[in-house]
Amino acid sequence: MDVFEAIYNRHSQGKVKPDQLPRQLIEKLLDSAVQAPNHYKVRPWRFVVLTGEGRNRLGDVMAASQQERHPEFPPEAFDKCRALPLRAPVFIAVGVDKPSEAKVLEIENICAAAAAIQNLLLAAHATGLGAKWRTSEWARDAKVKEFLGFESDQHIIGFIYIGYPEFAAEPAPRPSFEDRTVWVE
Ligand SMILES: Cc1cc2nc3c(=O)[nH]c(=O)nc-3n(C[C@H](O)[C@H](O)[C@H](O)COP(=O)(O)O)c2cc1C
Repeated sequence: MDVFEAIYNRHSQGKVKPDQLPRQLIEKLLDSAVQAPNHYKVRPWRFVVLTGEGRNRLGDVMAASQQERHPEFPPEAFDKCRALPLRAPVFIAVGVDKPSEAKVLEIENICAAAAAIQNLLLAAHATGLGAKWRTSEWARDAKVKEFLGFESDQHIIGFIYIGYPEFAAEPAPRPSFEDRTVWVE
């Protein structure tokens, strides 16, 4: 697929089929992700890939975390939490390394990891998959971070849900670059 075709036609796909993806396909997406630019070659992206039962384990952690913070919530609220990672057969959490040298800036590491996610989304689209980049409060949840193996001060910048599309995504028109651009000639 032509790169422009992929960029223009990629749309978030929140609804995907439960069918599992071959591991080889997931690896292809990750390999596309790590082709992203990154300063000082630090490769600051960290991926935690959850499939199958792994997603249930994360759901249990989310539900327990919510129950601890909001014991007054009805049981249905915790069930809803528990089901969140099950929205797609593949759930990839993307974290960012903290800089280990003074010259490396955290903001640049975040930029690189975000570029890796966009690569992954475009690769997913070009492969005929549906994907959606989410974060929500769970990306900042201490128990979720711990479960995923991230430090408490490490950023999680995305939870990427991937699967075979249930239906073709509605192409929502995107605003022009014009009101966000200044030309200096
Ligand atoms: C860092 C980041 C976090 C996001 N978090 C969420 C989220 O938690 N829930 C959501 O519905 N969309 C979230 N989005 C937006 C969607 O990924 C998507 O970009 C948006 O719905 C526009 O649709 P499109 O990708 O088809 O252009 C997030 C986007 C980014 C870049």
